[in-house]
Amino acid sequence: MNEAATTAIRVEQTQQSRLPQVDFNNLKFGQILSDHMLVAEYANGHWEDVSIVPYGNLSLSPATSALHYGQAIFEGLKAYKFADGTVSMFRPDKNNERFNKSALRLEMPEVPEEIFIGGLKALIDLDRDWVPSTTGASLYIRPFMFGTEAALGVHPSDSYKFIIITGPVGAYYNKPLRLKVETHFTRAAEGGVGFSKNAGNYALSLHPTRLAQEEGFDQLMWTDAKEHKYVEEAGTANLVFRVGDTIITPSADTILHGITRRTIVEIARHWGYQVEERKVSVKELIDGIENGSVTEAFAAGTAATLTPITELGYEGKRYTLSDPATREFSNKVLQYLNDLRYGRIDDEFGWNYLVD
Ligand code: PLP
Ligand code: COI
Repeated sequence: MNEAATTAIRVEQTQQSRLPQVDFNNLKFGQILSDHMLVAEYANGHWEDVSIVPYGNLSLSPATSALHYGQAIFEGLKAYKFADGTVSMFRPDKNNERFNKSALRLEMPEVPEEIFIGGLKALIDLDRDWVPSTTGASLYIRPFMFGTEAALGVHPSDSYKFIIITGPVGAYYNKPLRLKVETHFTRAAEGGVGFSKNAGNYALSLHPTRLAQEEGFDQLMWTDAKEHKYVEEAGTANLVFRVGDTIITPSADTILHGITRRTIVEIARHWGYQVEERKVSVKELIDGIENGSVTEAFAAGTAATLTPITELGYEGKRYTLSDPATREFSNKVLQYLNDLRYGRIDDEFGWNYLVD
């Protein structure tokens, strides 16, 4: 259990909750948004005016710098409801840390813990009835920040908005994934912004992903920019493979340092598996699928949770992986994560942040 300092937050509650209209049995990712949002303004070199207000539209100048030059970063995390009604966020400190790394790379201000974590706690406490309690469902939380200066010169914005919105969600992927190994387009190059969670990394993925979807794939498996020889990550999640009793996950500064991936690495080590965070070549992966040594493969992310990969497409050929039901590590770690996040087992690593 963890505690975070809080900051003074002005709260304006909605007059009319939208909660009664929500069908919790039919949650599509990101389409339903909770009653309130947190908004903080940065100007004159510091954060000011942190408030929680009813969810609603923003009014922006057409010259808003983020719309032109892309100073826009975001995070994704989830809150879960235990059987006794307790609400808990999963490792929000890691999101705060990564957010500030993204901010630094894009020459944006950091958001201190009092506003990021303190703000999360206050917002989710207020909208706690929006947190679903069924396994597989949770409250998705989207903190984001963008430059708001109304000026067309290319320079860091002198003002920013930090906002947190939330909404109840089910699974992002409701079936196993078929991934195309991308060998033409590039997501990120060394020295670039691949490790940061900025809006542009997602914009650039849309066209190549659509082309892959037209070929019958669900998502891409990105490869390195230089040679397209090494596997990096999927479009919305990191990649994890099992070879024998070794868990292998690609590691590079061109990929997003996922908190789910990190969590799984820590659990696997704790359970005694050998874990290798290293470069993984496409050849190694394809050979391993063909000779049967790659027994498990999955995408790991906050929205994706843990989604099995059942097919890879590479240079026009399709490779089929094992039946997800037979995957011992993937199923064990997903069960463990669910038990932990819904408060059914002891929080031995101290990853749950209770909202009380
Ligand atoms: N890689 C990309 C491109 C993502 O969008 C995400 C999702 O946030 C991840 C990896 C996984 O990161 P995390 O586990 O922190 O959600
Ligand atoms: C997340 O898992 O939080 C993501 O950001 C992935 C995607 C929805 C953009």
